[in-house]
Amino acid sequence: MYNSWEELKSNCLKCEKCSLCKTRHNVVFGIGNPNAEVMFIGEGPGEHEDLQGEPFVGRSGQLLDKMLNAVDLYRDKNIYIANIVKCRPPQNRDPSAEEQDLCIDWLRNQTALIKPKIIVCLGRIAAMKIMNPNIKITKEHGIFIEKNGVLMMATLHPAALLRNPSQKPSAFQDFLNLREKINEICVKTVQY
Ligand code: URA
Repeated sequence: MYNSWEELKSNCLKCEKCSLCKTRHNVVFGIGNPNAEVMFIGEGPGEHEDLQGEPFVGRSGQLLDKMLNAVDLYRDKNIYIANIVKCRPPQNRDPSAEEQDLCIDWLRNQTALIKPKIIVCLGRIAAMKIMNPNIKITKEHGIFIEKNGVLMMATLHPAALLRNPSQKPSAFQDFLNLREKINEICVKTVQY
């Protein structure tokens, strides 16, 4: 466990704990404000993220930014975005259980330093790892639970919304629920 953000980041960028390090172009550490009250967690980098070293910069990232901005959330201001695994799984396959377990301490350390009030899981993989291994995201998205003193909610993955645009309105409702919760319990998010 690193107490300094810079030390955590520089060690994460050198990580060789699993074989994904052999095929990556960049470690995708995360992006945003490390003092944010709201943290978003995705699954793992795709091709664009791997090449640019930043999470959610491809098509699904553009959709994510649209939904974020609509509720006054901005990756360069008042949120932090990270992934369960920091390196791209080849062909964008799901990260294996082993890869997730070998990588999760980086995310735990990020979360321990950020101390978010709210965590939003983007998609099934993150929701199962962070919230509940038995979560049924199609039924339970948009619903807040409390775990370890942090409010958590899952929403549909933006890539799933691109494949299935009919689900966009109900996913956007999750962002409206999130905004309500932020207004209730977050002070800083409004000021950034
Ligand atoms: N999908 C994810 O889950 N994370 C990213 O960073 C990009 C796409």
